[in-house]
Amino acid sequence: MKKVILDVDTGIDDALAMILAFKSEELDILGITTVSGNVCLDQAALNTKKVLTWLGLGNQVKIFRGADRPLLREPVFEHEVHGNDGLGGALKDMEADMPEDGAVDFIIEQAEKYKGELTLIPTAPLTNIALAIRKKPEITQWIKEMVIMGGSVKSLGNITPLAEFNSYVDPEAAKIVFHSDMPITLVGLDVTKKALLTDEHIAQLEGSRVGEFVKNATAHYMNNSYKRNGVKSCALHDPLAVGVALDKSLVKTEKLYVDVETKSELCDGQTVCDFGNRLGKEPNIDVCLEVDHEKFIRMFIDYLKR
Ligand code: BDR
Ligand code: CA
Repeated sequence: MKKVILDVDTGIDDALAMILAFKSEELDILGITTVSGNVCLDQAALNTKKVLTWLGLGNQVKIFRGADRPLLREPVFEHEVHGNDGLGGALKDMEADMPEDGAVDFIIEQAEKYKGELTLIPTAPLTNIALAIRKKPEITQWIKEMVIMGGSVKSLGNITPLAEFNSYVDPEAAKIVFHSDMPITLVGLDVTKKALLTDEHIAQLEGSRVGEFVKNATAHYMNNSYKRNGVKSCALHDPLAVGVALDKSLVKTEKLYVDVETKSELCDGQTVCDFGNRLGKEPNIDVCLEVDHEKFIRMFIDYLKR
């Protein structure tokens, strides 16, 4: 089994990513680290605990709180998309204990314990990972691979005209991670915006407990997407990162040089991909450029039915 840590800012699609990961049975999930992103750190940590409790794993999986703000910037939340509580109100009546601090040390400890074996799947701003690299640079040699949901290399942004949310919220952290020499697969908006969950897919889960959760959790997201672009669907950004960690054949990648803009009034957080190698730099990231979205959605539904 692949040893993984999920780094999340739970978030509707982070919740779906966690459910996919636990249903997969192919991942040995060592723990979950949380970070400020879609919602504040406390809410992200509580939401994570609630989702795990809902899965019946509340006391079996380690959850840690990490950074409560980006490295240098003020936090930016995404309540418009994920609702006030971050889960579209889906688990609003559930009680949960607050997870403990220690995300950065947990990542370092596990990277050292499982040298060459650990896959990190961050589906949030990269603050925790950047802090772990700063604290213990050797982890860049120990971590086997990272599959990151973030960025947008050919598409537009989803928080500013050109920036994707996770890279926008903490671009300085993304810069540290992108230049860390770790093997990185970047699952950006170019592919995640094609992985759309629709009412028809949700109907395939109807009658099950998981179906009810997915329906409740995504209703807010779907209504918001309908208001914005006239299409009622939920982009499975974070679940696709888990999908790619499970099965690389879902995507076509190309190794390219990618950097993040941090000094621009209009473009901060934009992931700049050097397709023509104009900068002459060594490619640093396997960038997902195409996705077999039908195969992924089938996988998502089949796994959730388990
Ligand atoms: C990313 O931003 C967040 O709102 C989602 O959870 C996902 O990680 C998509 O841009
Ligand atoms: Ca997320």
